[in-house]
Amino acid sequence: MTELRLVELSAETIVAVNNLSLKPGQEQFLAPVSYGIAATVLDPSSTWQRVVIGDEGVVGFISASFGGETTIDYLDSVLWRINVDADDQRRGVGRFAVTALLEEARSRGFDHVNVIYEAGEGGPEAFFHRVGFTPVGETEYGEVVAQIRL
Ligand SMILES: CC(C)(COP(=O)(O)OP(=O)(O)OC[C@H]1O[C@@H](n2cnc3c(N)ncnc32)[C@H](O)[C@@H]1OP(=O)(O)O)[C@@H](O)C(=O)NCCC(=O)NCCS
Repeated sequence: MTELRLVELSAETIVAVNNLSLKPGQEQFLAPVSYGIAATVLDPSSTWQRVVIGDEGVVGFISASFGGETTIDYLDSVLWRINVDADDQRRGVGRFAVTALLEEARSRGFDHVNVIYEAGEGGPEAFFHRVGFTPVGETEYGEVVAQIRL
């Protein structure tokens, strides 16, 4: 992949984002229980979302939440969802998206970004470790809470 760029989610890109494919077995890692619950309490205006464009169009999507009104402290600055099309995985798209997220968090004055994921074969754990997240705790549902300090 020669060049990657980040654009806002729009009417032009939303269909391609919804059609991003997964490798077999990855779907079970997409939405940890905690996120489903948090989604019902977080203010949508706290959401940041970007689409990653490669040579031939949409290759990935990332969303995060910053400073949403919540009593759950690890949701203050949190990577919400990241998805790279099955055909474009392991080519640096995910790292590119996370790097952009870290820049965004920094520019908003946060000194960390959290992520919540389910550990397990076929899941995103190895990726999150490689890009710098370190486990710092566990949710009440047994998911890992990991963090990058900025
Ligand atoms: C997790 C995901 C976003 C990673 O995106 P990606 O574009 O394939 O990742 P990158 O190519 O940028 O990889 C970055 C680093 O992580 C490593 N990595 C990525 N996936 C890995 C895996 N499954 N196992 C081991 N290492 C992995 C890469 O080797 C690379 O390491 P390096 O830069 O030190 O060489 C992608 O696999 C995906 O969309 N998965 C399905 C959705 C999902 O589970 N999302 C997370 C929960 S919302």
